[in-house]
Order: sequence, then structure tokens, then C-alpha cells
Amino acid sequence: MTAPKITLGIETSCDETGVALFSTQTGLIAHALHSQIDLHAVYGGVVPEIASRDHVRMLLPLIQQVMSEAGIEKPDAIAYTAGPGLTGALMVGGGMANGLGLAWDCPVVAVHHMEGHLLAPMLEEKPPEFPFLALLVSGGHTMLIAVRRLGEYEMLGTTLDDAAGEAFDKTAKILGLGYPGGPLLAALAEEGDDRAYSFPRPMLNRPNLDFSFSGLKTAVMLEIRKAEAAGSIDSCRADIAASFQRAAVDTLVGKAIRAAESEGLDRIVVAGGVGANRLLRSEIAERFSGEVYYPRFEFCTDNGAMIAAAGALRISQAKAATEIRAVARWPLDTLDVPATT
Ligand code: KG4
Ligand code: ZN
Repeated sequence: MTAPKITLGIETSCDETGVALFSTQTGLIAHALHSQIDLHAVYGGVVPEIASRDHVRMLLPLIQQVMSEAGIEKPDAIAYTAGPGLTGALMVGGGMANGLGLAWDCPVVAVHHMEGHLLAPMLEEKPPEFPFLALLVSGGHTMLIAVRRLGEYEMLGTTLDDAAGEAFDKTAKILGLGYPGGPLLAALAEEGDDRAYSFPRPMLNRPNLDFSFSGLKTAVMLEIRKAEAAGSIDSCRADIAASFQRAAVDTLVGKAIRAAESEGLDRIVVAGGVGANRLLRSEIAERFSGEVYYPRFEFCTDNGAMIAAAGALRISQAKAATEIRAVARWPLDTLDVPATT
């Protein structure tokens, strides 16, 4: 299939409805995002049924919005997130993509959400070239991947327990911050002393490239209990947040640089929600001798633009609209290299 001129991207894997139009010639044309954070905040986490219903409510109006902003009546292809994610939420995007594909008689391509994240820096002015090392850090995943070319992904390390974003979110929760905790914890950390507590740098001294964050979470919890018992928690909160953030970032950066060096890769891509963390971005840029790439802040967390861009690259796999794919668990290293890239 020849490369499309304009791809409509649809993201509904979790708690954001993302829509975008991406041109193979000129890049991103328009994008829109609706966050469901307020809907889920009262429950302290994402409620799948509420997520699906809200995607149903928001998806079509957002598509109409970006199409009219861009002055486009019909795209040349449609890309949607087919997984991994919440099955019901994924089916909303998949159903809409296939319905529109039939109506517009245009091909539809199923995109892997994490591939979308790792290709998100391709939306920027100076995109990375292959090969590169990707540090993918989101609410559900922590992965170090050798990206040889589109679709050829070797998993070098992953988390043995909590994902990086999950560790931020859980630590934020025990610090009494809201949901989602990552950005709130990062903001509080700005006011604290990151040397106040010496928290463990999990697995940093082990030779492998895996991560584990549960020990760090427990260490933070013990300090919080101590401070609560001593009645000093209010004055300690920012220092605990800063020390936690420093320990988590040291671990992520240390392992990412080790992975790049051992694979002989001189480019690192940082992507996924935790990639919005300012300390992570500055530390890795400072300590790595090669080039570091990341998406702009708004494209670190879930969005439609990364799905449109990844879909445009995978258009050779697009099919006539018939099959709605929704895959809850989908290992990234099982993807294939598209025939024409
Ligand atoms: O990629 P993403 O939007 O959704 C998933 O696919 O999981 O990532 C969301 C995660 C959440 O855990 C959130 O707390 C975390 O990214 N996050 C951050 C920051 N911004 C978002 N963690 C640390 N620092 C941040 N500034
Ligand atoms: Zn994501």
C-alpha cells in the first residue's frame, strides 16, 4: 500500500481520548485530547467501565473537531490503538476506526500503544534516526528496548514489579497527594531537599537491566510512618518526595545509559508518561555522552498524535475495515517489521 497523505490517529487505551491528523509530508496537522482524570479521581484510579463510556461520549466530537480545524473531509487512512490497554476502552476506538473506514472507504491500521510512545519523538522537529535505545516509562510499563528499525525491538530489561509511573503514583498516594500522583509528586519534589533521605536505588548495582520499585516504595512508606508517628509529616513531605524522585530517576538513568553503552547505541529516546519528568530529562541529557530525544511534554502521556504517526509508518499493514482488534496484553517484541519501510 502506498504511503497515505493524511492519517487520522485514534487513542482510547486508557483514560485519555486522543485524536490527531498527521501528514506524511508536513507532519502533525491537528490534534485534540480529552482527559478523564476528573472522572476517575474520586475512585483513586481508572475505572474501566467509566473509561469506555466516556470514550464513546467524546470520540466522535473530537474527530469532528480536528477534521474541521484542519479543513479536511476525509483522511487517507485511519490508525487506532489496538492494545495493550483496557479491552472495552480499546474497542471503542477500534469500533469507531473501522466504522469510519467503511464509511470513508479508507484503510485502517491497528497500532501498538507502546510503539506509539516510542515513536512519539518522530513528531518533533529533530526526530531520532534508527537505531536507538528506548527508555519507555509509563503507568503500566518500564522497558529498555534496543530499537534496531521500525518493528525490530529487542527487550533488554523490564520491571519485575511496579512500573515506574505506578511507583510514582503509589508513592504520591501514601504521601496523601491526589491522582494521578506522578506530576503532583514531581511538583512537590521541587520544594524539597533530595538528599534529606537516602532511599535505595533498586537494582542499580545488579549487572542486569531489569528494574524493581517495590523496595523503594516500602522504604518511603517506612519513613512516612516514622514522620507521622513523630508528628513531623507536614514538614517532611517535600523532602520525602524529592528523595524518592531522585532515587527513582537515578535508577532509570543509570540503567538506560548502561543499556545504551552495552549495545553500542549513541541515541536514547525517553518516552511514556514518566518521560515528562523534568529531573529525568535533565539527568539523562547531562549524564549520557550521546544524543537524547524526547517528545514535547504533552506527547509524553497518552495522545492521538503518536498513534497517527506510528500508523503512518505502518500503513503497509493497513487493511480494509472489517476487523476490530483489542488486545489487552500484547508484548512489544512480538511486532514485525512492515514489508515496505
Ligand atoms: O504513558 P501514560 O500517559 O499512560 C500509560 O500508558 O500508562 O503514563 C502515565 C503515567 C502515570 O503513572 C503518571 O503519574 C506518570 O505517567 N507521569 C509522571 C509525570 N507525568 C506523568 N511521573 C513522574 N513525573 C511526571 N512529571
Ligand atoms: Zn501510554
